[in-house]
Amino acid sequence: MSALKEQVLAGKTAFVAGASSGINLGVAQAFARAGARVVLISRSAEKIAAAAKTISDEGHEALGLAADVRDYAAVEAALGQAAERFGKLDIVLSGAAGNFVAPALGMSANGFKTVVDIDLIGTFNVLRASFQHLNRPGASLISITAGQAVRPSLYQAHVCAAKAGINMLTKCLAMEWGPAGVRVNAISPGPIADTEGMRRLAPTDQAEAAIKARIALRDYGTKTDIAEMAIFLSTDSAKYITGTILNVDGGSELGDAGGNAIPEGF
Ligand code: NAP
Ligand code: COA
Repeated sequence: MSALKEQVLAGKTAFVAGASSGINLGVAQAFARAGARVVLISRSAEKIAAAAKTISDEGHEALGLAADVRDYAAVEAALGQAAERFGKLDIVLSGAAGNFVAPALGMSANGFKTVVDIDLIGTFNVLRASFQHLNRPGASLISITAGQAVRPSLYQAHVCAAKAGINMLTKCLAMEWGPAGVRVNAISPGPIADTEGMRRLAPTDQAEAAIKARIALRDYGTKTDIAEMAIFLSTDSAKYITGTILNVDGGSELGDAGGNAIPEGF
């Protein structure tokens, strides 16, 4: 049964970074529908207030705060405000990211640094600063990584490097914080429909069709697919799971499954 239909997160507090849109907003909304109080952050005060309102309009408790994940003091302040409002945090999801398509030679040092700063350093900042506010033992930390972490991709050197760093950070923090009863995992989404990420990576119908034709399950995933797994990782069903990179990607990481994968007659 869908985790979204049950109050599996009742009484819990979740903090979601990069939550003004897309996948992370979908996760924040799903956390709230599953019973959690939710704190959302992003750079834009206006966008994050609107995102929090989509949740409070459904009758759930939500607080939207402006904070840039590259700014450790701002992240610390937002986490402090979250804990002051709702108490200790049970779930922290770090998903803020930036992406653009550019060859390494078409990217300035600052362009490369910008994406590493948002994705990798930002994730360290969010997870590191959250530790003192966590409900321990039992807290669930989740980062949003991507297939680029393990699959080199043309014109994605910045994202590949940053997301590979997130995968390793996930495993290192899982080792260090496991003894405190804090689980640290990551979700690696495949191409997800109706997101800024895919608008940037596959802006035309043709590009979208070409991607789908190479995925084992032959389709994009949905925000709900990611939200369901974030909820799963935050319940007792996942109490023995830490240091894991959970692919929710239709088989994308397996490689190119294009063409007539199943021979004629079968
Ligand atoms: P999105 O809608 O653009 O989400 C990115 C979020 O990060 C926005 O809410 C943005 O809000 C926030 N953000 C950006 N820079 C920030 C900063 N410095 N500090 C705080 N917040 C910041 O993109 P999405 O496609 O849904 O992607 C969400 C996550 O999924 C990302 O981690 C991405 O790498 C991952 N992912 C996506 C796909 C996909 O198919 N879309 C596939 C694999 C992985 P503001 O602009 O308001 O700051
Ligand atoms: N090609 C090459 N370089 C680019 C670029 C592109 N398409 N877009 C931005 N850059 C470079 C800029 O030129 C700048 O480098 P410079 O100072 O040497 O000129 C650097 O990246 C930073 O750009 P800036 O616009 O100042 O950064 P920002 O912090 O305001 O925004 C981005 C960050 C660039 C990642 C922006 O695209 C963003 O806000 N993205 C969030 C949404 C998103 O990417 N969603 C998908 C998530 S998967």
